[in-house]
Amino acid sequence: MVSYKEIGLVNTREMFAKAIKGGYAIPAFNFNNMEQLQAIIKASAETKSPVILQVSKGARNYANQTLLRYMAQGAVEYAKELGWENPQIVLHLDHGDSFELCKSCVDFGFSSVMIDASSLPYEENIALTRRVVEYAHQFDVTVEAELGVLAGVEDEVASEESHYTKPEEVIDFATRTGCDSLAISIGTSHGAYKFKPEQCTRDPKTGRLVPPPLAFDVLDAIMEKLPGFPIVLHGSSSVPQEYVDIINANGGKLPDAVGIPEEQLRKAAKSAVCKINIDSDSRLAFTAAVRKVLADKPAEFDPRKYCGVARDWMEELYRHKIINVLGSDGKA
Ligand code: G3H
Ligand code: 13P
Ligand code: ZN
Repeated sequence: MVSYKEIGLVNTREMFAKAIKGGYAIPAFNFNNMEQLQAIIKASAETKSPVILQVSKGARNYANQTLLRYMAQGAVEYAKELGWENPQIVLHLDHGDSFELCKSCVDFGFSSVMIDASSLPYEENIALTRRVVEYAHQFDVTVEAELGVLAGVEDEVASEESHYTKPEEVIDFATRTGCDSLAISIGTSHGAYKFKPEQCTRDPKTGRLVPPPLAFDVLDAIMEKLPGFPIVLHGSSSVPQEYVDIINANGGKLPDAVGIPEEQLRKAAKSAVCKINIDSDSRLAFTAAVRKVLADKPAEFDPRKYCGVARDWMEELYRHKIINVLGSDGKA
C-alpha cells in the first residue's frame, strides 16, 4: 500500500471546490508516454495550473501501469525542479471498469479514480460506484462516477448514441453513491469524430463542419438539482483544424474530423464543470508534428528530432487550453 500523499500528489476535493468557486476548470490530460508527460508538466508548472494526469485502460495496456505510476511520481519532482514549489498534481484512473482495478490503483498511489459503470443499469451503477467510494474514501482518494452515456467508444464499451444524463436522477445518484464528482453526458463524445457530418452544418466560407451546440439546458438542470457539486466533462477535445490540415497534407487521412468548439468549453468551465478531459487534441498535435517533420526531412531517423517537436507542439497546446479555454492558470 502506497499513499499518494507520500509521493506529493493531491486528491481532487479542494481543487474542485476552488475551481467551482473561481469559475474555471481543471485540465485532465491523458498521458501514455514520456513526451506527453513532460509537455503536461512543463505547461502546468509554467502557468501554475493545477493538473490531473489521467491513466486510461489503453494507456495501461500500452505503457504498463507500474511505469506510468512511477512516471507520475517523477513528474512531481520534475515540477519542483521547474520551480513549482507546491505542485498540485492529481494521478487519476480514467474510466475504471471494475472494483478490483479501482482498488489496485488506490493501493498503488493514485489520488483519484473514476469508476465508469455508466453502461450498467442504474441500480448496478449505484452499487458498484458505492463500493468503490467506500474503499477509496478510507484512504482519502476521491472518486468520479458517470451517469448517462456518451456517444462513441468509451474505452471498450461501444455506444452508438448518447443518452444525456437525466437531471431527475442526479440527486439520488450522488447521495446514494457518495461520489465526489459526476461525469455527465450533454453531447460530448470521445475521439476525433464527435459528430457525423449529417449532425452538423457547414460554414459556407470555409466548408468546415459546424457541430451542434452542447445541451446546456441539461447542464443547467443538473446544476439546479446539485448546487455546487463538481461536474466533469469527458470527450472535450476541440479537434483543432490546423492539426487536421497538417496531418492530411502530410500523408494522413482524417476526413471530417470535428470536435467541441472552444467557446462552448469556455462557457462550461465557468459553471460547475470543474474537470475537462482532453486526450485526442494531444494525439493530433503529436501526429501532426511527427508527420510534418518526417515529410520535411525524409532523412531524419533520430526519434528525438521528431518526438521533440511533437513535445513542443503538445506543450503549446496544453498551455493554450490552460490559459485560453479552462482559465486554470495561476490557480496553483
Ligand atoms: O476516454 C478515452 C481516452 O481518450 C483514453 O483512450 O483508452 O485509447 O487510451 P484510450
Ligand atoms: P477526447 O477524446 O475528446 O480527448 O476525450 C478524452 C476523455 O474524455 C478521456 O477520458
Ligand atoms: Zn473519457
